[in-house]
Amino acid sequence: MNKQPKHVAIIMDGNGRWAKKQGKKRVLGHSKGAKSVREIVEAAAREQIEFLTLFAFSTDNWNRPKEEVNILMKLLVSSLKKEFKRLIDNNIRLCAIGHLKSLPVLVQEELLFVIEKTKENTGMVLTLALNYGAKEEIVEAVKAIADKVKNSIISPEKVDESTIIEHLYTRNLPPVDLLIRTSGEERISNFLLWHIAYAELYFTKTLWPDFTKEDLQLALINYGKRERRFGKTSEQLTL
Ligand code: IPE
Ligand code: IPE
Ligand code: MG
Repeated sequence: MNKQPKHVAIIMDGNGRWAKKQGKKRVLGHSKGAKSVREIVEAAAREQIEFLTLFAFSTDNWNRPKEEVNILMKLLVSSLKKEFKRLIDNNIRLCAIGHLKSLPVLVQEELLFVIEKTKENTGMVLTLALNYGAKEEIVEAVKAIADKVKNSIISPEKVDESTIIEHLYTRNLPPVDLLIRTSGEERISNFLLWHIAYAELYFTKTLWPDFTKEDLQLALINYGKRERRFGKTSEQLTL
């Protein structure tokens, strides 16, 4: 049996379809989805998950209608303002990954404020992936490493996995143990490519606004039953 995963990552998908099902506008799904975020963050902390990483906005989500993007950004600011105290109360540290500099200034300011205020917290590390794309993350890392090679800071022979990790947005995160995606889609959508190399994948048809702490527990129980072999044989693991 696996113990609890150290790092859980979630692709929170299905807000739009949830709203459509009720005959409402997509944005209503996003505000209901924000409530699920609160419930799941607190449940994960209670479950002693050390790292929770949530995909909140991808680099490709800019291609959505402007009105939806604006509402998502506003919702981010208001959620950060609203949840700030609960993060403190639950000893949760907030971090963010992605191309943060291209987010609206208000989002950046609120984000940096909460990151700064929670940086001494010693409980769960909650990472929001915002304006995040894993391919872009790798391109940025390659550029930074190439620059260091050009300036003789690193020699090409010395480039190894840890050199790459050190240059990723996710440099402070351990590998993902369990990746959950809601809404029935079974794809990665450019999330955390490097860090999910050996992640256990868990797909559920439940739409994100309906995803509860009980659903998280089901995913954790399912994870606990899996055998992670990392290239070895089953027999080697039981030795
Ligand atoms: C996930 O729900 C939230 C974001 C991507 C911001 P969607 O908005 O993708 O919902 P569906 O997939 O259209 O139902
Ligand atoms: C992935 O969901 C991004 C987030 C959950 C923030 P999408 O809904 O954008 O992904 P695709 O387009 O269905 O692959
Ligand atoms: Mg979607």
